[in-house]
Amino acid sequence: MEIITAQSSGFCFGVERAVNEVENQIAGGEKPVYTYGPIIHNQQVVDSLSARGVIVIHSEEELQNIHEGTIIIRSHGVSRRIQNIMEKSGATVIDATCPFVKKIHGIAEEAGRNGEVLVIAGNPDHPEVQGIMGWTEGEVHVVRDEKEMEELELAPGSRAVLVAQTTYNKTKFEDIVAIFTKKEYSYSVKYTVCSATDRRQTEARDIASKVDAMVVIGGRHSSNTQKLYQICSEKCRHTYFIETPDDLDMKPFQSFSRVGITAGASTPKSIIEEVTLHVRRNEC
Ligand code: F3S
Repeated sequence: MEIITAQSSGFCFGVERAVNEVENQIAGGEKPVYTYGPIIHNQQVVDSLSARGVIVIHSEEELQNIHEGTIIIRSHGVSRRIQNIMEKSGATVIDATCPFVKKIHGIAEEAGRNGEVLVIAGNPDHPEVQGIMGWTEGEVHVVRDEKEMEELELAPGSRAVLVAQTTYNKTKFEDIVAIFTKKEYSYSVKYTVCSATDRRQTEARDIASKVDAMVVIGGRHSSNTQKLYQICSEKCRHTYFIETPDDLDMKPFQSFSRVGITAGASTPKSIIEEVTLHVRRNEC
């Protein structure tokens, strides 16, 4: 069996930077160390950090009760309001927001200042999108897909700025832009799908179109992994979404001669290697 592993699979630069930041704090010995939300969508990594004393803050209410130690903002970023609460808490704040996300915060802030409506193509429940929404003082809308963009109605004469969640499907964003530009607003479009996501999606699409089966590894809640799964499923009908090697039923693999493997931005290299070994070991 031939196995093709995507070179772009695994930790992206933003996730790696955030995880390293937590490791540095643990090594520095200062306590307690908090992360606002799990640092990445990977349970094994989060469990291992928690075993070494890292505490996850789950809500704004929990945040209000913290007055010492270090709080790390993960790569998804937070709203300006949450950041203000952190800064006034008395704890040291380390901002590991990915620079690609930070750039969108800047666009949102400017849109608010200029009286422009901010339109975000993304998932309104995702922490990155919620953070972005909190950087504009103006009107803001989130559209999940083409249909919601069709339905979006702004007041006549509105000026709007369209951005994408960094992990949005790039091809889908182009379709959304096409719908947006047909509307009668004065608008500008910022192409904010990050380059790591773009590379990962393009490579996954490419591999999925030439293999018998495609394995996508990542957390169930990881938005970029869900999108990878969607992209690969469109090209390869035997696409499997797994978190660990144990999730993979190897029976169907007996008839596959070419298998592709890719992984989301928060999947550690060790798990990708384990899955590759697992597939290799179980081939007939
Ligand atoms: Fe940053 Fe893109 Fe990763 S926005 S956190 S480099 S997926």
